[in-house]
Amino acid sequence: MATDDRHDVTQPLAPAGRVPDDHVIVICGATGDLARRKLLPGLFHLAKAGLLPARYRVVGTAPAADSFGDAEFREHARQAVAQFSRAAPEGPEWQAFEDTLSFGAADPGETTPLQSAVREAERAIGGSPRRLFHLAVPPVAFGSVVTMLGASGLAEDARVIVEKPFGTDLASARALNDTLHAVFAESRVFRIDHFLGKESVDNILALRFANGLFEPIWNREHISHVQIDVPESIDIQGRARFFEGTGTFRDMIVTHLFQLLGFVAMEPPAALDARSLREEKDKVFRTLRPLDPAHVVRGQYEGYRGEQGVAPASDTETFAALRVEIDNWRWAGVPFYLRSGKALAEGRHMVTLTFRQPPLRMFPADVHDDGTARGCSSLAIDFDDPGSITTRFLAKEPGPEMRLGQTEMVFDYAGSFVQDHALEAYEHLILEAMLGDQSLFTSAEGIDRLWEVAEPLLKDPPPVEPYARGSWGPEGIHRLVRPHQWYLPDGR
Ligand code: BG6
Repeated sequence: MATDDRHDVTQPLAPAGRVPDDHVIVICGATGDLARRKLLPGLFHLAKAGLLPARYRVVGTAPAADSFGDAEFREHARQAVAQFSRAAPEGPEWQAFEDTLSFGAADPGETTPLQSAVREAERAIGGSPRRLFHLAVPPVAFGSVVTMLGASGLAEDARVIVEKPFGTDLASARALNDTLHAVFAESRVFRIDHFLGKESVDNILALRFANGLFEPIWNREHISHVQIDVPESIDIQGRARFFEGTGTFRDMIVTHLFQLLGFVAMEPPAALDARSLREEKDKVFRTLRPLDPAHVVRGQYEGYRGEQGVAPASDTETFAALRVEIDNWRWAGVPFYLRSGKALAEGRHMVTLTFRQPPLRMFPADVHDDGTARGCSSLAIDFDDPGSITTRFLAKEPGPEMRLGQTEMVFDYAGSFVQDHALEAYEHLILEAMLGDQSLFTSAEGIDRLWEVAEPLLKDPPPVEPYARGSWGPEGIHRLVRPHQWYLPDGR
């Protein structure tokens, strides 16, 4: 029994009563990249951790032209787990998992193999298991797969996980919601944004609402600006077909970074349940000021236009940085700077809140060499898994003179908790969907509003500015945040 104030490691991960009902999980797009990298390895890890229900089956599906037999699907899964899972595909646990896998092809108008596979899986489980579809298909296929599931009768009483990006603008997102709602009630739709499954993002809620320390200063009185910064060192890694039509704004900003902003900026929810959390997040989105293209920097890394599958005069951005304003009492006048891009100097996941200067500056040498003021205390949340939280502040350097030095206090997830129970983002979110808990999923209303906010930028995007690979983005990023500075790379 843990008696100190550290995490009680004897506590089960899923609190009592949070065990999913028996399930048939259907992966649509089971032969694709997402299934191979995340879903199959994730399901195996959940099974191994004892977090899946006692009785479950996993059915893979894809168009007939691309389909597998059961044995082939099992071998495909074994290879995926060997390559991408923390747990090796061996021993009785693998055997038990492998035995749950089967495959049934499906095309619009011909869904018989999938229907038989699902029926067979349900028969093997017995009783009335739930059905969960995971749409791991390209965005252009969402609509047709949903309609196909509706027409086949398979969608009845089922839940569905839909991948991002949800639409490409306001009109397409609305049309997609109409298609979805014709088949699945909103309470059965789980729009996934895997950033919301990251442990450290949940921890933003804990940090803010479980402590008396931070929330009282989490507002415009004390915070001068906020940065949500997700630079990536990887380039598009051959994903030209997806990326050319998407770009960083749709791939990362209007999705992952805005969802994070919702968590950072929300009011205290009435309870930690789906309704309250989504309500508060959606309220933040309602108060977002429509994006001003003058406050957006779009960039493209040098050499992007030469990549295979990229148009020689492509205007797709591989980088975006923007200033976002929230018109409510807590945040009025506090800029939120968002940045993400490919082929940058480092891959990081950071949320930084910088505090206002004290009203009186009475210390000598209170400036940086470049003349800017020192002493911007900050709270930096690094939500890389496992992540850390750093508070930066000025302290007196030892000695006879009153000299200030920048210093920090660091909470490091990895060194503070037992990691055995940690789940990857996808694992966490699949489990939540099986439990029917929509807290960490996006709502139709929220997505609709984000596309509405994005309209002025999508209609009138500024030209892309080139930037060197391995840099922090185009020159314009410094202008965008003036008089502030980017926290990365120097941590000011
Ligand atoms: C995906 C984007 O949703 O998120 C990718 O499509 C991006 O372009 C990825 O690289 C980043 O996720 P993570 O968890 O590695 O930061």
